[in-house]
Amino acid sequence: MYLQLQVFTFILILLTNIRSTTGESWNYNNLGPDVWGDIDSLCNGRSQSPINIQTACTNYQSFAPFSFQSGYNLTHNFTLLNNGHTIVGIYTGNNPMSLRLTGGGLNGTYEFLQFHLHWGENYKSGSEHQVNGMKYAGEIHFVHRNIETLKLAVLGFFMESISNTSTSNIIHKTTATDIYKTNNLTSEEWQKYFAVSEYLRVMNNATTVNLNLASLMGSNLNNFWRYDGSLTTPPCTEDVKWTMFKTPIVFSDININIFRHTISFENYRGPQPLYNRTVYRNFLHETILPITDYFCCIGNMNNLANKHFLHAANKLILYTFILFTVF
Ligand SMILES: *[C@@H]1O[C@H](CO)[C@@H](O)[C@H](O)[C@H]1NC(C)=O
Ligand SMILES: *[C@@H]1O[C@H](CO)[C@@H](O)[C@H](O)[C@H]1NC(C)=O
Ligand SMILES: *[C@@H]1O[C@H](CO)[C@@H](O)[C@H](O)[C@H]1NC(C)=O
Ligand SMILES: *[C@@H]1O[C@H](CO)[C@@H](O)[C@H](O)[C@H]1NC(C)=O
Ligand SMILES: *[C@@H]1O[C@H](CO)[C@@H](O)[C@H](O)[C@H]1NC(C)=O
Ligand SMILES: *[C@@H]1O[C@H](CO)[C@@H](O)[C@H](O)[C@H]1NC(C)=O
Ligand SMILES: *[C@@H]1O[C@H](CO)[C@@H](O)[C@H](O)[C@H]1NC(C)=O
Repeated sequence: MYLQLQVFTFILILLTNIRSTTGESWNYNNLGPDVWGDIDSLCNGRSQSPINIQTACTNYQSFAPFSFQSGYNLTHNFTLLNNGHTIVGIYTGNNPMSLRLTGGGLNGTYEFLQFHLHWGENYKSGSEHQVNGMKYAGEIHFVHRNIETLKLAVLGFFMESISNTSTSNIIHKTTATDIYKTNNLTSEEWQKYFAVSEYLRVMNNATTVNLNLASLMGSNLNNFWRYDGSLTTPPCTEDVKWTMFKTPIVFSDININIFRHTISFENYRGPQPLYNRTVYRNFLHETILPITDYFCCIGNMNNLANKHFLHAANKLILYTFILFTVF
């Protein structure tokens, strides 16, 4: 009896210690994404983020371009805070109304809330969303909130990291040509960000830095994917409008590497099931070579390009089948 009590007390201490030392109910290791559903059942929902964007299965839809208020193109003070999971950039100026956007197929006016990064253990992992099963080195989320409905919309950017020492690890040759014109991998605005962020090594460390949101987002905002999802961290709240821009923002791997050692080795959630959701693209022709995933497209045939694609895929499967049965 005494022994049982001791064991019980020991376990209790262990459990409370886990909670109190980390001060959190979830993280990216022992309380990682696989168990978030036990912590908050919303994380088991049917409209969760991120997802794997299967480019062959997206539907074309034209959306009005995003319209950003002038504040996006001005330099403001942002508070950067290490929240234990990532660094959160919060606008601390006195004119939040200057950071509002409309358009982009979103309903109403959205106000900037915060931005933060997700990354992984090396340059081939870290993005939360994937494109045809491929991960990028990281992902930046600019979180916005509808000023009336308070529903969230996230503008997401893939981070492509390129090692300072080698050019052989470039994932997308198309973007690489732009990069080498300037030979500066990490843009000046992001260099400002990293220069101060690297010292926020302890949870609740914070600092102030002058940043320009438009410069952080870059100028490649024309092509994007859109779908309905959720927060990618607990409580995994759904009804979030997702915009994933197609062109990644490029960084030197060395910048991301600092975060791997100071904040978290990695802090991304893997793709969640799409279920019956549709992913839209706002550009007519997909240039990223689609992986021929035949079965994913069956429910999404209301797109001419996809139909042609399917038709070809159909034939291929048929011919392969004949070939194998005959010989
Ligand atoms: C930001 O302002 C500069 C001039 O200060 C201008 O050249 C540029 O086009 C603006 N960018 C956006 C996204 O409005
Ligand atoms: C921005 O922050 C700095 C301190 O980091 C401060 O000196 C400056 O006045 C702030 N600017 C604005 C516009 O609040
Ligand atoms: C847009 O938002 C308004 C409320 O701001 C709502 O009444 C309307 O139904 C919404 N439209 C769509 C298409 O969601
Ligand atoms: C990148 O490499 C160049 C020369 O190879 C070096 O001068 C520079 O300091 C390096 N940058 C970083 C951030 O390590
Ligand atoms: C490249 O980086 C250097 C040092 O950070 C900076 O002085 C220069 O303006 C940058 N060039 C471009 C094109 O961004
Ligand atoms: C981070 O927090 C620690 C502990 O509170 C403190 O010693 C350190 O100076 C802080 N660093 C910054 C950059 O705020
Ligand atoms: C997906 O299925 C759910 C029920 O499981 C339904 O409420 C929702 O409207 C469906 N969404 C679409 C886009 O069909």
